[in-house]
Amino acid sequence: MPIHSVVALILFSVCIIRAEGSYLNNKRYVYGRRGPSVSHNYRDALTKSILFFEGQRSGKLPPDQRMRWRGDSGLSDGSTERVDLTGGYYDAGDNVKFGLPMAFTTTMLSWSVLEFGGRMGDDLQHARNAIRWAADYLLKATAHPGTIYVQVGDPNMDHKCWERPEDMDTPRSVYKIDAQNPGSDVASETAAALAAASMVFRSTDRSYSQLLLQTAMRVFDFADKYRGAYSDSLQSDVCPFYCSYSGYHDELLWGAAWLQRASTNASYLNYIQANGHTLGAEDNVNIFSWDDKHAGTRVLLAKAFMLRNVHSLEEYKGHADNFICSLLPGAPTSQAQYTPGGLLYTMSQSNLQYVTSTSFLLFTYAKYLSVSKEVVRCGNVAATPARIRTIAKRQ
Ligand SMILES: *[C@@H]1O[C@H](CO)[C@@H](O)[C@H](O)[C@H]1NC(C)=O
Repeated sequence: MPIHSVVALILFSVCIIRAEGSYLNNKRYVYGRRGPSVSHNYRDALTKSILFFEGQRSGKLPPDQRMRWRGDSGLSDGSTERVDLTGGYYDAGDNVKFGLPMAFTTTMLSWSVLEFGGRMGDDLQHARNAIRWAADYLLKATAHPGTIYVQVGDPNMDHKCWERPEDMDTPRSVYKIDAQNPGSDVASETAAALAAASMVFRSTDRSYSQLLLQTAMRVFDFADKYRGAYSDSLQSDVCPFYCSYSGYHDELLWGAAWLQRASTNASYLNYIQANGHTLGAEDNVNIFSWDDKHAGTRVLLAKAFMLRNVHSLEEYKGHADNFICSLLPGAPTSQAQYTPGGLLYTMSQSNLQYVTSTSFLLFTYAKYLSVSKEVVRCGNVAATPARIRTIAKRQ
């Protein structure tokens, strides 16, 4: 299972725990009117999903590693370029460290802690550790101004050989972007991850948080100044694995949105206002994934309008509402497909990642709507926060 799919599982578990509001007594939930009722232990799912990240750790493992059967690996990652790229996460059933989904994973883990960390109990600290493991790596990948290291491990060679990372003998090739070979997608997602993580550590480790935020600002500048899709320069080294199918506009807006939230610097709000239209703020979207961030940006910016009174972002409430309406069965602009059992069906491959990331947005938007006492209007159909949560819970 790719690492960003697991993060989606965490988000979903946390949201359900929160929505059910009975986290502390660890009870089993029974719901569903159609078919046999199913009980799920969401707390256990949350714990195991976060534990999963320890199994994906690359580099020198720390003494408090809980998944003891895993050993150190990838200890000379980066050495071919004479840089330190040890650490970070392997992606899936392979030993490649893919920068784009790793950064997206970090952004989403951070968002889940920011919104729902208060309900995570003992797992909050483990979730923070999982974010820090990624953020430490992203700091290394961005430590050399003018260059971002975006991948370690030759995916075509790696995929021919199924080995555990402790024993791997496939090429640990290093891939990078720079001014001549830009990658605004991976760079801006990295900026988003660092900015979101900076908020996670703001109260627990002030200097680390500041380092993350300053790096995020520098990386976003680079992403915006040298525009291009990383798959245009890296081609078969990143495609078809994590090819930037949706281009880089969505990531630039998402990066700016996270910096707008994490910093007090007005330049990001100005940037969003000046560039939102060109970067696709109004595009029709019904997906939220490691590739396409538009829906997440809308929910994030709608929060700033609804809860922080940033009036100039009002249009994003409309865009976020449209996204919700596209998912709402029976709404005039409904576009989403559901299986006969009620599961959101987005794509034939790895569909559950879209189910879980969409469910996270539904729960998160429902939370913002509840706090600001708003509903979504889809033509003559009203979507209350309760209705939105019901759709997410059925998934
Ligand atoms: C705000 O951000 C811009 C763009 O990165 C930067 O040039 C400026 O120095 C920042 N201002 C402050 C007060 O940090």
